[in-house]
Amino acid sequence: MIFITRRERFSAAHRLFRIEWDDKKNYETFGQCSYPNWHGHNYELFVTVKGDLNRETGFVVNIKKLSAIIKETIIIKVDHKNINIDVDFMKGKLASTENLAIGIWEELEPSINALGIQLHCVKLTETENNFVEYYGK
Ligand code: NI
Repeated sequence: MIFITRRERFSAAHRLFRIEWDDKKNYETFGQCSYPNWHGHNYELFVTVKGDLNRETGFVVNIKKLSAIIKETIIIKVDHKNINIDVDFMKGKLASTENLAIGIWEELEPSINALGIQLHCVKLTETENNFVEYYGK
């Protein structure tokens, strides 16, 4: 079993808030990310997959193919979009980095499995100081 990670980047807007809470409670809970008129982040997405080494190619997966799948499945849906409004797999969810990482995993996993390999980790950085890692259920 060997692991390989591809990084992709995207920029997106969001707001963390609960509609049933007032601005004060939203601010106390979510800080600046609760400001009403949205804001953006430059996200970095690290997708780690695992599988057996292909002795002919020396690869676990062709990294260009992995990159294309991430772009077609995720990046095109989130880049320069509003996560709260525009992203189908985030509808009805709080636009936290945690929920976004879980949503990305669920979107990506079938395409990764179709390559005969497994998704191992979705790591998503929201700022240079904050990131989440999701390893599936
Ligand atoms: Ni934010």
